[in-house]
Amino acid sequence: MRYLATTLLKNEKLMHIARTALGAAALLGALAAPGLAAADQPIFDAKVLAAACANCHGTDGRSPGSIPSIAGRPEAILKQQLQAFKSDTPPAGTTVMNRLAKGLSDQQIDALAQHFSQISRSPSAQEVAKQ
Ligand code: HEC
Repeated sequence: MRYLATTLLKNEKLMHIARTALGAAALLGALAAPGLAAADQPIFDAKVLAAACANCHGTDGRSPGSIPSIAGRPEAILKQQLQAFKSDTPPAGTTVMNRLAKGLSDQQIDALAQHFSQISRSPSAQEVAKQ
């Protein structure tokens, strides 16, 4: 029984060390990623990035619900809004965009602003026919 207790205790310690190491590795990974991204200017596809916005802002940035539509907004405005979310002082009342925008590089923000500005606000007759 005593043996069991010390083994358990040892395991507990080992687990703790393992957990701490894993946590540190994950943290380092998370910290290193944006650093690398900024330095290496990775190749990214604006369409893939934009797809991540569709969940909330609707397909092609045309929102059917209460979250604002972002399709067809002027590029400069979109850029400005995303930079504001990314800044350390996001607009009052911001709920999720500050956290999302923090993960975007300036190049990605530029690409996203350009992407959504080029989509028309409402679907064309052709697009409607396809639906
Ligand atoms: C989890 C849901 C969610 C996702 C994903 C999301 N947004 Fe948002 N977005 C919001 C909400 C909610 C707001 C209103 C501001 C807030 O509460 O953060 C908003 C606001 C905005 C605004 C300002 C619109 C306005 O008129 O005020 C822009 C621009 C924007 N989002 C762009 C994006 C882009 C680009 C992406 C993809 C990289 C994205 N969002 C992904 C939920 C989301």
